[in-house]
Amino acid sequence: MSRFYNENTKRLVPYVAGEQPQNMDLIKLNTNENPYRPSPLIEERIKNFDLYKLRLYPNGEGEVVKKAASKYYKIPQEKVFAGNGSDEILGFLFKAFFDGSTKIGFPDITYSFYPVYCSLFDIPYIQVPVKDDFSIDFGDYPEDLKGIIFANPNAPTGLFIEPSVIEELAKNRPDTLIVVDEAYVDFGGESCIPLISRYDNIIVVQTLSKSRSLAGQRVGLAFGCKELIDGLVKVKNSFNSYPLDAIAQVAAEAAFEDVEYFKITRDKIINTREKIRRKLLEAGIEVTDSKANFLFVRIPGISGPEAQLKLRENGVLVRNFNSGRISDWLRITIGTDEDMEKVADIIKKVMEESSI
Ligand SMILES: Cc1ncc(COP(=O)(O)O)c(C=O)c1O
Repeated sequence: MSRFYNENTKRLVPYVAGEQPQNMDLIKLNTNENPYRPSPLIEERIKNFDLYKLRLYPNGEGEVVKKAASKYYKIPQEKVFAGNGSDEILGFLFKAFFDGSTKIGFPDITYSFYPVYCSLFDIPYIQVPVKDDFSIDFGDYPEDLKGIIFANPNAPTGLFIEPSVIEELAKNRPDTLIVVDEAYVDFGGESCIPLISRYDNIIVVQTLSKSRSLAGQRVGLAFGCKELIDGLVKVKNSFNSYPLDAIAQVAAEAAFEDVEYFKITRDKIINTREKIRRKLLEAGIEVTDSKANFLFVRIPGISGPEAQLKLRENGVLVRNFNSGRISDWLRITIGTDEDMEKVADIIKKVMEESSI
């Protein structure tokens, strides 16, 4: 630790991302990446990209991305924000709307980046326990919160909350900003984007990293009323005026244009998820009703860290959050059908071996 660290940096406990191994012989199912190639249209646009354009700064607002997203979702462009991955947008959002004078709340089991932003920006927070079945009950959240944030479908459980429930929450708490992180919504959930035209206290965050196979390109989006979006722009322009590079903008635009390819790959992932889920349940393994591109799994008779290790020894990389109530659970990203058939067999083998 350098003596130049300030008090905040000394205290910070940063987010730990899933491992990105060099050994690609492993079946990599630990960071919810998409197993399929990005759309051929993206490939074509990037190949034809005129490198001469890299001399110039890109458009700071990601106009072409916002335009493509606003056309896709049929909402005005002024209600869209584009950024360098949704993690960065979440950072802007915490900075723009919350501070030390107000408390926010989120489930105790959800995306583990939220408490990190709170400590980075000194925002007080409470972690509200989810029920034993991992469901979220907004009745458990105190009335005086400045913000409530959660992933929907939630991570790592995959459980989905209907937009009507979120609408009720926003209606009953006009002074609470409801942040809906829809990183996984395309895999069987329903977006809250239609609600943003009726509620000025809902902001929806999405990413192109999962359902559009662009994790390496770093593109995220936020949707909210114009005033909320203007707040994000204000923070962005106080930090980095050009978060989205020129190639990322071209790729993201194409991702929204190629609706056909998006639907085909998304449906493949959903079908694989459902098939593997059934198989695991039939084998006596606990699996939540995930609407995301991952399964949340507990193998009886073996601890989470041990199961993670055993799977790795069998060439499969998955994620275990070795903490509290979910320490015995594994989050397993949905890969190709072929890989997932192998993984299901390996999981069954690990279970059998652990019961000997
Ligand atoms: C719930 C949730 N939100 C946001 C993100 C960040 O996505 P990205 O920064 O790639 O857009 C992730 C990534 O795993 C996530 O799980």
